[in-house]
Formats: sequence, C-alpha cells, structure tokens
Amino acid sequence: MPGQGTPVPGSGIPVPGEDIPLYVTARLRAALAAATEDQLVFDLPGIEERYATLVRELPGVAVRFAMKACPVDEVLACLVRRGSGFDAASPNEIAQALAAGAAPGDIHYGNTVKSDRNIAEAYRLGVRDFATDCVEDVWALAAHAPGARVFCRLATDGDGALWGLSHKFGCSPADALRVMETARDTGLVPSGLSVHVGSQQMSPDAWRNAVERIAGVLVALRGRDIHLDHVNLGGGLPALGCLDRHGTPLDPPLDKIFAVLRDGMRHLRELSGTPLDFRLEPGRHLVADHGAMRAHVSRLSARRAATGERQHWLYLSCGKFNGLYEMDALQYPLVFPTRGGSELVPAVVAGPTCDSDDAYSHEGGLVHVPRSAASGDPVWILSCGAYATSYTTRGFNGFSPLPVSVGGPR
Ligand SMILES: Cc1ncc(COP(=O)(O)O)c(C=O)c1O
Repeated sequence: MPGQGTPVPGSGIPVPGEDIPLYVTARLRAALAAATEDQLVFDLPGIEERYATLVRELPGVAVRFAMKACPVDEVLACLVRRGSGFDAASPNEIAQALAAGAAPGDIHYGNTVKSDRNIAEAYRLGVRDFATDCVEDVWALAAHAPGARVFCRLATDGDGALWGLSHKFGCSPADALRVMETARDTGLVPSGLSVHVGSQQMSPDAWRNAVERIAGVLVALRGRDIHLDHVNLGGGLPALGCLDRHGTPLDPPLDKIFAVLRDGMRHLRELSGTPLDFRLEPGRHLVADHGAMRAHVSRLSARRAATGERQHWLYLSCGKFNGLYEMDALQYPLVFPTRGGSELVPAVVAGPTCDSDDAYSHEGGLVHVPRSAASGDPVWILSCGAYATSYTTRGFNGFSPLPVSVGGPR
C-alpha cells in the first residue's frame, strides 16, 4: 500500500516519484502504470471498500448512489451487488439503473426539476418515489404519477461546500408544509424530507444545521397529522484526496461528519412519533478517489505574462472539457511517474483546448511540476473519479472523450 506523499510546500501535491497518497490503492496505481494511452481508470474494489466503510459508519442507512457522479455501467452494477439503490435525475438515468440490476423500488427520482413527460416516463418505468419542492411539481406528480410517494427537499445555504447547490433547489420550512399538505390532498403519499448540504461539504455544522431544519418541519408536520417514514440526508460527503484551488489538501473532517450524522439520526428518530428510516445519496464520496486519469504532457512552456513576469504553463492532454470540469474550484493531485527526483518549477496547469477557462485558476493556484517534463510524459491525475464521465464534452476541439477502463471483478 503506498504511503502519503510529502507535499511540496505551498502546493500540497505529492513530490513526483515519491509515494502517492494513501487512498490510491496499489491496484489503481498498477492500472495507471500499465496504461500506455490516455484513459480514465476506476478501481471497483476501492469503490466497494468505500461503500462498506460508509455503511459501517452509518448503520441502518440506505445508500442511494447519486448516479450523476459516475454513470458507468460496471460501477453501478457493482454498487447494486453491494446493496445500493440509486438517486436518479432523469428517465434515462432510471433506465440505466434498471439495466444495472436495481429494483424500481430502490430507485428514486431525486431531481426536483422535471417536466410532465419526465414524470410520466419515470412512473412508467416503475419509480414511485419522487423528490419535490413546490406545489406546481406536486400537482404534476398527482396527475402523472398518481398515488406516488413524495419527499420534500428543504433548502440549505450551502455554506462550507465547494459547490453550494443552494438557490436552485429546495424550499423553506413554511413552503414545505404547504407542499406536503398539497401532496396529501391530491392523493399522493407525503413520505419524507430531504436536504443536500452542498457538494464536497467540509463542515460538520452544515449537517447539524440541516438536521435542525428537518426536525422543525418534521414536528410541524406531525402537528398536521402528516407522519413521515423517512429522511434523506442527501449527498455532499467529500472526496478525501482533492486539493483546494490554491493546492492545499482539503483534508475533510470525515469522522466528525459521520458523528454528526449519527447524532442527527438519533435525534430525528426521537422526535418522530413513528418509525423513521434514513437514506443518503452520496455521489462524489464513493467514487472520486477511486477514479484517476492517465493523461500525458502536451507541453511545458514559459512565457512572459502581461505583468512582465515569466510564467510557466504546463499543458496536459486532458482538462476541463475531458472530465476535469471542476478544475476551477479545486486541484486534482498530479503525479509524474517518470520524473521522480526532478527539479520542480511553479506552473499554471491547463488542458489542451482553445478555451482559456480550460485551466486551474491562475491566482495563487500554481502547481510545482517537474522542470524536465516533456511532451508525451505520462501524468496521473488523481481523485477525479466523480463527475468526470458525466462532465466530458462530446469532443470539444476534436479531443475525444477518454475511454473508461474498470478494474477488479465485475
Ligand atoms: C439530489 C442530489 N443528490 C445527491 C447528489 C450527489 O452529491 P455529492 O456528489 O456531493 O455527494 C447531487 C449532486 O448534485 C444531487 O443533486
């Protein structure tokens, strides 16, 4: 098992050639080393181990993997075998979950945004559990998914997360009461409440606050004779291996987050007059650290910037449009396996396209890269297993989507 790489001061990235971080299993490392062409590699046993740890830390919680984070058939099938259900965001995702072997009852439509046609198609596919956050959607559900179960998503502020997911989704506690009463009055089953505290959420307080918000609505609903059977604590659990946009390891307080979730579930169970189940919709946490890219160096160059300063740029064969969509908000650790011990130079890291957004943020986001890096050198881009396949363009500038290779038993 590789050990934690020593970070370059101020960059947080492992020194090229030294041990790479703990979460990068020997299997993933071997697959990256064996790859001679660019590809996105997933380590299935690594994903299974992460899943096993999650259900051990949060006993009794039903995991519904947020498919958007990694809609790769082999990954979905492997999660079904471990007992996972799915959070789907469209009829196509539902169809893919069914094809991976999930039972319709283990899939919910977790997207609050859906057209009449989307609802009818999901219902036809057998899904009976729908997220909602407004009465207009409830009316549509009553018409196109008669008798379905609905859970209402409460808004959160997204504080503490890299991507807040606030504003667009979720309603206020007062609106939630109206939504759930409307559901009951239109023949639907008001069955639960949900939150999403924001993706790559770093603060246990975010879940603490969310639980308080849920508790208030749960009690108010009881007062209206609406008794819920579940609470969905959403996604947001962090990846462990990413760096912030300045290159500092994020180091999420996972144990504290799990402790807050356990306390929160206990508290909500005590408040509920009826038995309460819990669901979680992790996406990133299960797959990010167990997917990595084998890319290559396009060119290391030096140019004088507008400030007159000489600046190095490291152009890689993959960037924002080949799956590294999140490079504006974080850095992925880079490993240069053939340049161990090389002198390092600070550089802006960028992808291969003609789009100037295809780069790590410039200010303070320089990465220490080997001065000897040459065109064609392999580069391993770590902790990019979440959202990489779904955020890949069809071939912007002619750079084709990367082939996906899945290691481990299928
Ligand atoms: C409804 C819902 N659930 C779960 C997730 C997964 O979030 P994460 O990858 O942060 O766990 C998302 C992500 O956007 C989402 O929209």
